[in-house]
Amino acid sequence: MLGYRVTRLLITLALMSFASTAIAAGNPSAGKFKAISCQVCHGKDGRSTNPLYPRLAGQHAAYIEKQMHDFKAKRRIDPVMNEMAPSMSDRDIADIAAYFQSIK
Ligand code: HEC
Repeated sequence: MLGYRVTRLLITLALMSFASTAIAAGNPSAGKFKAISCQVCHGKDGRSTNPLYPRLAGQHAAYIEKQMHDFKAKRRIDPVMNEMAPSMSDRDIADIAAYFQSIK
């Protein structure tokens, strides 16, 4: 059956182009507000001083976005992040990632 595979491929391509649009559209100002809850663990502005919590300040947005989508899909396992990520939309993730990247 050609149809199923072609349809899957088209859906995958559509999702990929949607994802890259989201990356381009990340808004750091909106992200700053949305990232308030992250500071409890990842430190003020993502400048973590606790080795248990990775520093997010200055991290590449594309990397943060990938990790968040991996936590969401449980491709990456962490009890805390697997709880946090599913409630976040692609837009939230893109904005938060753009915000942390903007921190020097
Ligand atoms: C209750 C504590 C806690 C909160 C709140 C929290 N995180 Fe995390 N986060 C962690 C821990 C612990 C890890 C490390 C997981 C591991 O070791 O694999 C982590 C890892 C990450 C990573 C992967 C970093 C890397 O270098 O690979 C990202 C990205 C991330 N968190 C983003 C966020 C965002 C965005 C928020 C807010 C929406 C948030 N976290 C809120 C505890 C937290």
